[in-house]
Amino acid sequence: MQEKRGIILSGIRPTGRLHYGNYFGAIAKFIELQEQGHCCYYFIADYHALTTITDRQDYLRQTIDMLRTYVACGLDPAKSVIYRQSDLPCTAELSLLLGMITNIGHLERGTTYKDKMGKIPATKGPEGNPLSYGLLGYPVLMAADILIVRADKVPVGDDQRQHVEMAIDIAQKFNYRFGEVLNVPEAVSRNALRLPGLDGSAKMGKSDNNTLDLLDDPKTVLQKIKGVQTTTDPLPLDTDSDDPEVVIPKMPPSLGVLYRLLSLLAPIEVYQDFLGKYRRGEKFYGMLKTTLAEHVSKFNAPIIERFNAPGNDDQSVRDFLRANVAKVTPVALDTVES
Ligand code: TRP
Repeated sequence: MQEKRGIILSGIRPTGRLHYGNYFGAIAKFIELQEQGHCCYYFIADYHALTTITDRQDYLRQTIDMLRTYVACGLDPAKSVIYRQSDLPCTAELSLLLGMITNIGHLERGTTYKDKMGKIPATKGPEGNPLSYGLLGYPVLMAADILIVRADKVPVGDDQRQHVEMAIDIAQKFNYRFGEVLNVPEAVSRNALRLPGLDGSAKMGKSDNNTLDLLDDPKTVLQKIKGVQTTTDPLPLDTDSDDPEVVIPKMPPSLGVLYRLLSLLAPIEVYQDFLGKYRRGEKFYGMLKTTLAEHVSKFNAPIIERFNAPGNDDQSVRDFLRANVAKVTPVALDTVES
């Protein structure tokens, strides 16, 4: 039986340079869904970005470069509808409507909001809670993004799963009150890959300065990988696993990152060869690093080339954004009017 070709939507925060965490956590999935022939909407969450951006020019430059990188990775504006959130202003209207039925208590339990709340000093200034209304309402706007195109599936990384669950709750509540107006999306699956940072921390993230970027040139790649801390302490024991091909044995976290990357980029024999060296306790860190760096640079080369290709300049990004928003606008207006 053929799987239903559902409507896919995901939002992308305009964070500038894209890294391997972005690629394996999200971009690869976006491209896979696009190639499977789903109707895919991928948008730049520029309203959402207003909670954090400070320099407008920087931010516009970063957004364009990010879109050029997406295209260089294989996201195709002729197959997927790629647009900018603010070019679809009826999203803001739907967000306002959804906000009317959303409990503040529900929003206060949002992970992003809670994390930020946790970081502000207990003794607040005379104005009280310094966080913005926009930050508290972040999941409501996200719900509007999702519901406005009648999305069935919302592929997101682990960190955004709770927000999508909130969107499902909001849609159900809205329908319960006003009739079956909104399409309720499916729950998010839990298998998004989370890549650790080069410093061995749990997550590769731009703000943690621990990323390997898709546009890094070979020199930078080698430098970053050589800089990964590899301990000479006695190696801990492996964990047993049923799947010896891809399992990353228990090892010091930063070494684990190298193995994880190798498993994603190198042929399986190369990976297994290094796994064998690890298990036998041989010395191999230097070779592991240069081998991995070669595979990373090989992966980056065509992306860098397509990033700089003549058909992928600033103007072509502006052109496809304009053409694509025209495709999504009728769908969105139809939702708001119904
Ligand atoms: N909040 C998401 C992020 O930080 C981006 C986003 C905005 C989004 N709206 C969305 C993701 C709707 C999925 C669906 O990455």
